[in-house]
Amino acid sequence: MQTAVRESRDLEPLLAAAEARFAQVHPASRERHARACDRLPAGHSRQTLYFPPFPLTIARGEGARVTDLDGHRYLNLVGDYAAGVFGASCEPIQRAIREALAQGLSLSGPNLRELELAELISERLPSMELLRFCNSGSEACLYAAQTARHATRRAKLLVFHGCYHGSFLIFGASDPPLTVPVPVVKARYNDVDGTRAVLRANATDLAAVLVEPMLGAGGCIPGTPDFLGMLREETARLGIVLVFDEVMTSRLGPGGVQGLLGLRPDLTTLGKFWGGGLSFGAFGGARELMQHFDSRGGGQLSQAGTFNNNILTMSAGLAGAREVYTAEACRELNARGDRLRQALGALARRHRVALQATGLGAVMTTHWSDRSIVDPSHVDPPTTPLRRLFQLELLEQGYYIAQRGMINLSLPVTEADLDGFLGAVDGFLARHAKLLPPSAA
Ligand SMILES: Cc1ncc(COP(=O)(O)O)c(C=O)c1O
Repeated sequence: MQTAVRESRDLEPLLAAAEARFAQVHPASRERHARACDRLPAGHSRQTLYFPPFPLTIARGEGARVTDLDGHRYLNLVGDYAAGVFGASCEPIQRAIREALAQGLSLSGPNLRELELAELISERLPSMELLRFCNSGSEACLYAAQTARHATRRAKLLVFHGCYHGSFLIFGASDPPLTVPVPVVKARYNDVDGTRAVLRANATDLAAVLVEPMLGAGGCIPGTPDFLGMLREETARLGIVLVFDEVMTSRLGPGGVQGLLGLRPDLTTLGKFWGGGLSFGAFGGARELMQHFDSRGGGQLSQAGTFNNNILTMSAGLAGAREVYTAEACRELNARGDRLRQALGALARRHRVALQATGLGAVMTTHWSDRSIVDPSHVDPPTTPLRRLFQLELLEQGYYIAQRGMINLSLPVTEADLDGFLGAVDGFLARHAKLLPPSAA
């Protein structure tokens, strides 16, 4: 710990210099951010896009690249926090949106795309026998919680420390001032025995277990097969609804992580890439649970939402999943991500630096540590000097990653792009060798 503090102190002057260079070469972003702070708290509308000294204003994007307001071009490895599977200008999606536009907006009825998209989703994730669309992953998780509570007539949710299910279902190190007023019981992610004990102790009160099969915002920590398998077994035995939040992870395999592990949750929530780059959410699962939304058969749950089936999202999502992110494309992209994580690990070993990339497939987070990371308490916050320096220096080289170290590959990222990125990381490790945490190996 003391070493970490000393390292941080040594990094401060480098960080200050990097921030000064950043501010100097981004005058247009700087001015726009200052102006935005008068209207938007902290000058933005999405927490994860902010980083000090100010976030870049992105003027346009093409393929895997984005250009900021000052004209700098970057390889976009933020990948819209995993939503940006298709890159910025995917032709089949643009065509689908143009075609939809030509047929009119605000159609005020079921349209010609939502059934096809629902069918495609059910085909890839067979646990989603019936599903409904909504506007975001956050909403999808709220609906899933509501469905489980209604179906079981029980109140509580079991969630995990450090998990994120949208702005109103967030259970980080400290709880926000307001979350959804639903009683929760918390357990530790990947703690098989501890969680089993919590489940059994609360069995008669628990409506659902809400779990990300890989913690995304929590640091790209995969749930172990033992842990997720135990959740499936215990919840089935105790009559608790198992909800897989696959908002982020459904891109990791053609059938999501549930497909990779051969597990069948009772409910699943989706978001992000399924909208083809537009706002999207969906939730669904076992017919007997989702039938509570079928008013024809006496179902008592109602789900309104002006834009739930908006034709632009339905069209973009359908084109994206059907024509572009096919099962084969999905496997290839995730294999590329596996190779990148391995290459980052090899670089770290060569420099004898404690750096690793955790995650699955093409969704990962870098950590300046070589301990085994199985729980969010093992993850440094995004604001450590080293994380910030790493991000700013990579930006200088034309590589845009998230401050928290998150990297999400999109389809247009090439092997040559990744070689360039690995070269930039190599340079960082060489430049700062003396200040970086040494590997224990
Ligand atoms: C696992 C998970 N659940 C829910 C959400 C919320 O989705 P949205 O941002 O679409 O509301 C996110 C967003 O990052 C997420 O990663």
